[in-house]
Amino acid sequence: MKNIVILISGGGSNMAAIVKTAKNQNWATTLNARVAAVISNRADAAGLQWAKAQSISTASLDHKAFDSREAFDQALVQQIDAHKPSLVVLAGFMRILTPAFVAHYSGRLINIHPSLLPAFTGLHTHQRAIDAGCKFAGATVHQVTAELDVGPILAQAVVPILDTDTAATLAQRVVSQEHLIYAQAVASLIKYGL
Ligand code: GAR
Repeated sequence: MKNIVILISGGGSNMAAIVKTAKNQNWATTLNARVAAVISNRADAAGLQWAKAQSISTASLDHKAFDSREAFDQALVQQIDAHKPSLVVLAGFMRILTPAFVAHYSGRLINIHPSLLPAFTGLHTHQRAIDAGCKFAGATVHQVTAELDVGPILAQAVVPILDTDTAATLAQRVVSQEHLIYAQAVASLIKYGL
């Protein structure tokens, strides 16, 4: 069985979309894969409770309890590796990862970013797209490499930016597309490899 470990920091709607798709498409049989664990850097992440209710193993590791980014990432690796993951999925995991962490999961670490990369790496992507006068926004699934939000692109979804959009309304439209492309990208990776 190929184990998928998902890292979250908040609501976890992308994580939930992947778990629901795995159930609906019966990944256990069709892909010999399952979401083995959901791990958060925040104990109060709403997505953790949801995952627990689905009988998925959950854990939290407070980054503030560590002296350095390196120490946190080392502890995180231990938590993740306990599940022997074939794929590690960042789903709204709002931590910058160390090069050692990224190297450890090289070729099996993916992220979703709420912009049409390579445009708008970093934070506040929707407001920046509106401010720049963009007519389209979107989301990108990509492999994680040492440089933030720059790894090879695996999938993208495009949505129009409306004249009436705020960052919040645009984010809503984008995230509903994220749920579709992220679950699809995970399934493809499990099936065909990175
Ligand atoms: C998503 O929009 C995701 O693209 C973004 O955080 C949100 C998490 O939502 N990720 C990043 O900004 C990463 N830099 P969710 O917790 O409901 O899945």
